[in-house]
Amino acid sequence: MARQFFVGGNFKMNGSKDSIQSIVQNLNSASLPSNVQVVIAPPAPYLFWAAEHNKQPTVEVAAQNCYDKASGAYTGEVSAVALKDLGIPWVILGHSERRIIFKESDELIASKTKFALDSGLKVILCIGETLEEKKAGKTVEVCKRQLQAVLDVVSDWSNIVIAYEPVWAIGTGLAATADDAQEIHKDIRNFLSTAIGSQAESVRILYGGSVSGKNAKDFRGKDDVDGFLVGGASLKPEFVDIIKSRE
Ligand code: PGA
Repeated sequence: MARQFFVGGNFKMNGSKDSIQSIVQNLNSASLPSNVQVVIAPPAPYLFWAAEHNKQPTVEVAAQNCYDKASGAYTGEVSAVALKDLGIPWVILGHSERRIIFKESDELIASKTKFALDSGLKVILCIGETLEEKKAGKTVEVCKRQLQAVLDVVSDWSNIVIAYEPVWAIGTGLAATADDAQEIHKDIRNFLSTAIGSQAESVRILYGGSVSGKNAKDFRGKDDVDGFLVGGASLKPEFVDIIKSRE
């Protein structure tokens, strides 16, 4: 099953009008491979700024979060319905920074995922274990628990891309090895296929955590690594090298 290679750029709470414009212009002027899907996630205030400047047909824009209600008295929250209304196609949900800093539970993330999908958005669903969980040998168990919450409420996974992002690898410069990522991605896919059958073959599973222009090529040839979710390096020109890493 050929799954289209996918590279996401998570800018987190970084950037300014000028810096985001130059990131987008850098992408515009690059000759990007036509067979790689690219999604950039600027901070919410810059979503339209990024979308407006983007000229690349293979590049789309994602929000970094949204809530599980369409509207109402939820001061400060972002509505999935509003994102859809304004033409934003993607949202990242379940990022470990949301899970850890903002105490989002598996159930809330599952509910947001369902609501975002029902609202017509596509979801980059992040999962992954902490260092303590890794040391305790619980990597796959944690990933399964996080996925199970979503499996409980979502049966159609065609608009979900999974990002396996071990927390210990995020922003540390210490990426998982390509072999380890492949093994965990394979376990994740096997788990998914017991739940959703052959659909699991077409779900893309990205690796995230200290991906760089240098190490992206190491993941070539890993059958279940269908792309990357990139944080720090997505703010730099090397993001283009990551997008081109399968060439
Ligand atoms: P990093 O972040 O690439 O800076 O490690 C990845 C992420 O948080 O998505």
